[in-house]
Amino acid sequence: MKSWSFELSPRLRKVAEAIPDGVTVADIGTGHGLLPAYLIMSGKCPSVVATERTEGPYNATREFLEVLGLAGKVDLRMGDGLEPLAPGESDVAVIAGMGGRMIADILFRGQEVARAMKCLILQPSIQGEVLRIRLCPSYRILAEEVVEERGRFYEIIVVAYGGFTPVDNEALYEVGPVLYSKRHPMLTRWIHHKMQGYRRILARLDRQSSERAKERHRELTMRLNRLHALLVSISQTEEVK
Ligand SMILES: C[S@@+](CC[C@H](N)C(=O)[O-])C[C@H]1O[C@@H](n2cnc3c(N)ncnc32)[C@H](O)[C@@H]1O
Repeated sequence: MKSWSFELSPRLRKVAEAIPDGVTVADIGTGHGLLPAYLIMSGKCPSVVATERTEGPYNATREFLEVLGLAGKVDLRMGDGLEPLAPGESDVAVIAGMGGRMIADILFRGQEVARAMKCLILQPSIQGEVLRIRLCPSYRILAEEVVEERGRFYEIIVVAYGGFTPVDNEALYEVGPVLYSKRHPMLTRWIHHKMQGYRRILARLDRQSSERAKERHRELTMRLNRLHALLVSISQTEEVK
C-alpha cells in the first residue's frame, strides 16, 4: 500500500463519516474509487466492494487502485447497481453522486440486496425529494446530513429497511424530516438555498408561455410557498424557546 496521495472532498468526507467503523461496505457507482481507497487506507473498513457499470470510470478506478497498491484489497466489480452483490455480502451500501430517481431505481431493482443491508448511505445530487417519497413507506431514515462544498449543498440520507418514516408535511420530503426535527445547524441555510434555486428557475419560466412551462411554474411556486411556511414555523418555534 502506498502513502496518501489524495484527499476526500468535504462531500465524500461526510459520506465516509456516516459509515460506522469496522463494517464491510459496497460503494455502488464508485466513479473514481476515492471512497473505497480511503476506507481501506484509513483502516476504517476491513473490506470494500466497489461497483461500476461504465467502462471508463471502471478502468480509471482499476488504475487508481493499482497505483495505490490496493488492487487486491478493494474488490472492483463491473455491473448495474446492486446486481454484482449477493444479499448479506456487505453490511452497508453507499450510493453517492447520482440523482435521487436513479438511486431509488437501483434500490428497487436490487431490493433483495438492499433490504439485507444494515444501512444504506445515500447521497442524491438532485431529486432528494423523489428518493424520500419512494423510500419513506418502507425504510426508516436513521440520519441526515447536509454539507456545503464550493457553494453547492449536498444531502446525505442514511436509511435501513423495515418500518417506515412518518412525514406529515410535504416540504419535508425536500428538506429532510430528520434534518428538520433535529434542527440541523445548516437547516435554514439549506432551505434558503433551495428557495433561491426555485426562484432562479421561476425567473426563466416567467419568460416562457408553453403549457408545460406554466405547469412547472405552478409546481415550483407551490414548493416555494411550502418552504417559506416551513421557515416561518421554524422561526416561530425558535421564538417560543
Ligand atoms: C457522478 S459519479 C459519482 C461517483 C462517486 N460515487 C461519487 O459520489 O463521487 C456517478 C457514477 O455512477 C456510475 N453509475 C451510474 N449508474 C450506475 C448504475 N446503475 N450502476 C453502477 N454504476 C452506476 C456512473 O458510471 C458514474 O461513474
